[in-house]
Amino acid sequence: MQIFLDTANVDEIHQGVAMGLVDGVTTNPTLVAREKRKFRECIEEICSLVDGPVSAEVTATDTEGMIREAREISSWAENIVVKIPMVPEGLVAVRRLTEEGIRTNVTLVFSANQALLAAKAGAYFCSPFIGRIDDIGEDGMEVLSEIVSVYDTYGFETQVLAASMRHPHHVREAALIGADIATVPFKVFAQLARHPLTDVGIKRFLEDWEKVEDLV
Ligand code: G3P
Repeated sequence: MQIFLDTANVDEIHQGVAMGLVDGVTTNPTLVAREKRKFRECIEEICSLVDGPVSAEVTATDTEGMIREAREISSWAENIVVKIPMVPEGLVAVRRLTEEGIRTNVTLVFSANQALLAAKAGAYFCSPFIGRIDDIGEDGMEVLSEIVSVYDTYGFETQVLAASMRHPHHVREAALIGADIATVPFKVFAQLARHPLTDVGIKRFLEDWEKVEDLV
């Protein structure tokens, strides 16, 4: 499973890239707004930091506006994937952009039916928002599992990008279900490597080693 960072913060991306474990980046209007930077400048810098796909989202709500923005955004760097919201107008845009060779990430997906339509429209990525499904008392992982199963059954090439991942347990579940990608906030990314027993183990090894230091 590939791991993407879900952030528009370049310091976080620098740290993740330095670990050699970041396969791509996803952003959304909320994450970019948090950085208080010009949209284009922010996305271009992120694209220069990672080799993999970088998702940047349109804000138009009509098909023609989405297509116009998508063409503009995709011209900023080779590795951009344009995020299009999962609405009927968006699906028309995805179909036309796919025909033009522009890669899309259908975002704000909350059901297997929506994911089916995104794949039929030709989306490159489909992003179910796991945490937000959990937030309303439903089961995000069940939806993820249904999407993976539908895509496998019909051989869709659209990649399943599990988003709105709030904690390491989400990442583990997504990997077990067979999501192609999990996009995670930096905090969750940092948590993935940690385990209290690893820390205790290292401490104990070093304490024992100190006791025999004169022998080495
Ligand atoms: O990038 C979209 C997604 O990951 C948002 O997550 O935590 O705002 O639901 P969250």
